[in-house]
Amino acid sequence: MDHCKQEKERKTKIIKENLSNVVPGEDDHDFDLENFKKRLESIRKELSSSKFFENLIEKLISLPKSYENILCLGLGRISSCHIALHQLSLLLELKTALRTNSVTVFDPVFSKQEKEILNSLECKVPEENMEGKYNISEGTLAYFPHCPHELTDAFLSENFTKEKLLKIVLLCNSFERFTTSEPSRIIEERAPFIGKIVDFSNIFEIENNYKFEDVFNDTAIHSFLEDKLPEEGTDFWDK
Ligand SMILES: C[S@@+](CC[C@H](N)C(=O)[O-])C[C@H]1O[C@@H](n2cnc3c(N)ncnc32)[C@H](O)[C@@H]1O
Repeated sequence: MDHCKQEKERKTKIIKENLSNVVPGEDDHDFDLENFKKRLESIRKELSSSKFFENLIEKLISLPKSYENILCLGLGRISSCHIALHQLSLLLELKTALRTNSVTVFDPVFSKQEKEILNSLECKVPEENMEGKYNISEGTLAYFPHCPHELTDAFLSENFTKEKLLKIVLLCNSFERFTTSEPSRIIEERAPFIGKIVDFSNIFEIENNYKFEDVFNDTAIHSFLEDKLPEEGTDFWDK
């Protein structure tokens, strides 16, 4: 096997090991579902009237994109973590505002109880861990709040054609901040597809003016435009 191929396989193995070391959370037997629902309602109400949300929605709607589906990865423990709960509230408000029919949510840490809550909120929760490799066929908002760059990269690699990227809008940690703060060796090792696409992406950093500083920090909208992406059939698209 040539050295280049061996090196590529070694990197893929490291990425896979990092992403599969996560185990499902335990159900919390003292969990108060009624109280949870009340908190969620109140956070959604406040969030939907915030400047942060207004700014985000305005930008998403202004893009020449459709949002048939939302795919959300890496929310975390929604029943016990305040950051995850606020991020879930944003997911539900995006679903309403963008009139999205289908929402799929996955995080390997979800407990059985959390999956039931998400199902009751009309979110599909698949059983299988795809390690980010979801192949999209319709307009999709990929919402990956504070997800590891490796996971976002796996999603990009699965959809690395011009036709598919034009259907995707990513709401996740800023590619630009990542690629300008890390040496190119690390980018190549952890997230080669982010490294490749960053200069061809339209990146809009959302002002972090939400009431909690640690919920949506470093969040950006990434979209791709026909005339900014390299031509189909060129070796840019080789994997
Ligand atoms: C840094 S945490 C972010 C948690 C939360 N969103 C936050 O901002 O605090 C990354 C999350 O990605 C999740 N994750 C890891 N592998 C994943 C996978 N294959 N699919 C979806 N989520 C995954 C982890 O379980 C974890 O909850």
